[in-house]
Amino acid sequence: MALLRAVVLSLFAVHSLADLNIGFSSYANDFIEPSYILGKNWNATTAVAQESIIQWADSLAAQGPWSVTTSKPFLAPSNNTHDYLSWSPYWWPNCSGVGNTTELTPQQIWVTCPYVPRDGVFNPDYRTVNNTGAFSALADAVLYNALAWKINGSSVYSANVASLINTWFLAPDTYMSPNLNYAQVVRGPGANIGTHTGVLDLKCMTKVVSAVLVLRTGKAPEWTDTIDTGLVNWTTTYIGWLTSNKIALEEAAATNNHGSYYYNQLASLQILVNDLTGANATLHKYFSTLYQNQVDASGEQPLEAARTRPYHYRSYNLAAMITNARLATYVGFNAWNLTTSAGGSIKAALDFTMTVPPKDELASELFPSVACRRGR
Ligand SMILES: *[C@@H]1O[C@H](CO)[C@@H](O)[C@H](O)[C@H]1NC(C)=O
Ligand SMILES: *[C@@H]1O[C@H](CO)[C@@H](O)[C@H](O)[C@H]1NC(C)=O
Ligand SMILES: *[C@@H]1O[C@H](CO)[C@@H](O)[C@H](O)[C@H]1NC(C)=O
Ligand SMILES: *[C@@H]1O[C@H](CO)[C@@H](O)[C@H](O)[C@H]1NC(C)=O
Ligand SMILES: *[C@@H]1O[C@H](CO)[C@@H](O)[C@H](O)[C@H]1NC(C)=O
Ligand SMILES: *[C@@H]1O[C@H](CO)[C@@H](O)[C@H](O)[C@H]1NC(C)=O
Ligand SMILES: *[C@@H]1O[C@H](CO)[C@@H](O)[C@H](O)[C@H]1NC(C)=O
Ligand SMILES: *[C@@H]1O[C@H](CO)[C@@H](O)[C@H](O)[C@H]1NC(C)=O
Ligand SMILES: *[C@@H]1O[C@H](CO)[C@@H](O)[C@H](O)[C@H]1NC(C)=O
Repeated sequence: MALLRAVVLSLFAVHSLADLNIGFSSYANDFIEPSYILGKNWNATTAVAQESIIQWADSLAAQGPWSVTTSKPFLAPSNNTHDYLSWSPYWWPNCSGVGNTTELTPQQIWVTCPYVPRDGVFNPDYRTVNNTGAFSALADAVLYNALAWKINGSSVYSANVASLINTWFLAPDTYMSPNLNYAQVVRGPGANIGTHTGVLDLKCMTKVVSAVLVLRTGKAPEWTDTIDTGLVNWTTTYIGWLTSNKIALEEAAATNNHGSYYYNQLASLQILVNDLTGANATLHKYFSTLYQNQVDASGEQPLEAARTRPYHYRSYNLAAMITNARLATYVGFNAWNLTTSAGGSIKAALDFTMTVPPKDELASELFPSVACRRGR
């Protein structure tokens, strides 16, 4: 193993690290202990990883900034440009019952045909409003720029984080309203509100929180009191929505990956507003309720295996379970080895998923979780 690593490192040594161009891969979610980053207790073994993070930080920041108000071909039913909007990805128009004797225009289809679900099959029109992609890119840009700030030391990276967060959440012209009332709207007649599955669109708030903790704890001058206070205020209002709105509560009760990610989001936001007791209670609730029914003794995740893309969904829920365990560690709750009612565990779920051939699905979706197991 040591020999192999030396060979791999020597291969890298003959090239300039700057020439490396490791394709960017967006993890389903992530939470990194800020003390690990701030401690900078690294050595040459991770040089390539550090260089990749810097490259990703540079290229992601160059693609921003992002805002819900930018280049939006449709407004939410409220007509408020600050309201987040997305369409439900797996719902398709069924025009056979609405007198479709001639071809309907897209505009007619969107408002007259009832939409019906086809699990796992993306309706290609779903990214015509791309607030979802924008938020995902923002979360990655913010996370990797926060890490790059500590790796490289340049204030360019911390300034990127502050500026990107200010644009998405706080600036008067571009802020997002602190709710998801119009996330994953199912189009068709009478569509005027989002659906609970849309709460998943902001699951990567956990990455944003991870970045903020690095800058806040590391006292980056670019992370000003004004931005910190503004974001805490925004988050306090949003947590109120997340813990009381009908749509949000339906998502909290979802038994599969949707529920797991709801807990990622809520617990990390409670950490952001310094409510560590609340975050701890949130994570205890996840591990004593939803988690209990998510993994069999064999390590199979029955609620994910039932889906149309089982390898994706197993990997996806694993990422959420691991992120919940990482958040729990941060607030002093060791959840790594907790067993489910059937005797399963996070580790069992990972070991099982590694034995399942991905067939025509992407094997790499599981890689971040495999790396986590080596670390544990
Ligand atoms: C680098 O750090 C890791 C983790 O602390 C350690 O396991 C490894 O032996 C170190 N390698 C070198 C070359 O110092
Ligand atoms: C939004 O604008 C459309 C088109 O002008 C209008 O029909 C609709 O009533 C408006 N909705 C609200 C909530 O104001
Ligand atoms: C409407 O009818 C046309 C003609 O039969 C057909 O080609 C089209 O697919 C239908 N549209 C939808 C959305 O069902
Ligand atoms: C499409 O609509 C027709 C007519 O209303 C209905 O009979 C059919 O079951 C619907 N198809 C689906 C997949 O919901
Ligand atoms: C949505 O936004 C993301 C991030 O900017 C981008 O990578 C993706 O290509 C966009 N998708 C579409 C269909 O525009
Ligand atoms: C940080 O990045 C800049 C620009 O690429 C580079 O000149 C500098 O050497 C880097 N600093 C460190 C400590 O890596
Ligand atoms: C706090 O957040 C609320 C709701 O988003 C907003 O209306 C208000 O302006 C914010 N106050 C400050 C001081 O940022
Ligand atoms: C979180 O819960 C654990 C018990 O599982 C406890 O030891 C720890 O002190 C709690 N942390 C906080 C911040 O309340
Ligand atoms: C989980 O259990 C294993 C085996 O008993 C042990 O080696 C490991 O330290 C435990 N992990 C944590 C985080 O408690």
